[in-house]
Amino acid sequence: MILLLGATGYVGQNFARELKARGRDFRTLSRAQVDYTQFTVLLSWLKKEKPDFVVNAAGYTGKPNVDACESARADTLQGNTLLPVTIAQACAAAGIPWGHVSSGCIYTGAKVRADGQWKVEKDLTQPHLWRLFLKDPGSFAGFTEEDAPNFSFRDPPCSFYSGTKALGEEAIVGVGQSYIWRLRIPFDEEDSPRNYLSKIQRYSKVYNNVNSISHRGDFVKACLDLHEVKAPFGIYNVTNPGAVSTEQVVQEIKAVLKPNREFSFWADDKEFYSVAAQTPRSNCILDGSKLLKAGVKMRPVSEALRDSLLRWKPETKS
Ligand SMILES: NC(=O)c1ccc[n+]([C@@H]2O[C@H](COP(=O)([O-])OP(=O)(O)OC[C@H]3O[C@@H](n4cnc5c(N)ncnc54)[C@H](OP(=O)(O)O)[C@@H]3O)[C@@H](O)[C@H]2O)c1
Repeated sequence: MILLLGATGYVGQNFARELKARGRDFRTLSRAQVDYTQFTVLLSWLKKEKPDFVVNAAGYTGKPNVDACESARADTLQGNTLLPVTIAQACAAAGIPWGHVSSGCIYTGAKVRADGQWKVEKDLTQPHLWRLFLKDPGSFAGFTEEDAPNFSFRDPPCSFYSGTKALGEEAIVGVGQSYIWRLRIPFDEEDSPRNYLSKIQRYSKVYNNVNSISHRGDFVKACLDLHEVKAPFGIYNVTNPGAVSTEQVVQEIKAVLKPNREFSFWADDKEFYSVAAQTPRSNCILDGSKLLKAGVKMRPVSEALRDSLLRWKPETKS
């Protein structure tokens, strides 16, 4: 039996759906039923029910966006650093392997090739980098699991949310047997305030940047596949291969959904941060080759995006 934590959340719902589709025996726990955030409560549940594997899709995300974490720092720290540590310690004490949904937002930028050398560039909105990405995306490479987070409390500036996610990873690495699955900007075909493709359509103005992103269903499948193929425990970047600019995503939305509106973009970071955002945003490219080497393949990002838009299900108002 698999224990799924956070099944009521945006990512957790998809784990529940996929586990059901795979015919896997699984149970869900919600804090309202059993307060799994308490070490003794969780450990005694694990010892009694003896799951073979635990999936942690619980955590604290700011709503409607990461700015909300700045005014809810205790909840953010609890959900993203203390909770994973509690689960890691309880699973280690009970001898149960587990997987933790982390985030790629602990990085900013990408590695960029210039004059035969790869150099980390933290801000991909610089005009010369922007032009290079459109002309030669092969000059850009993502951060690997070996690279230290560069958008974290150790390497500021960062958002408080990203800082707690990086600290959470740091605190659980090496405790028991775990997968750390890095999700990044989830999207899919289901219109929802949590879906990146919906967010872009609802913003008054769009922030243009370059990112690796994860189709929600593809992400969940890849995480469960890693466990099923018995891949070595450790950190995995779980994003659809490639990177896209927000402008390219807007072009796809226009081409497929043909929305009855024009899209405009914030002129630059100065305008974006003075009007629409408070805390720094992470925009980054991640390298997915470790996942591929483990035998788990995800669709290229262009394919996953196009397919989501072709199968788009608008949100029904109740
Ligand atoms: N959505 C994204 O854009 C995104 C991107 C990258 C990574 N992630 C990571 O993915 C994980 C799940 O995110 P999500 O978007 O599915 O979040 P969500 O919709 O807010 O759901 C999270 C679930 O976590 C549980 N939980 C446990 N402790 C909590 C706390 N202190 N505060 C709030 N909820 C708590 C809640 O379930 P119960 O109350 O039922 O137990 C809640 O339903 C998080 O670790 C997040 O950092 C999300």
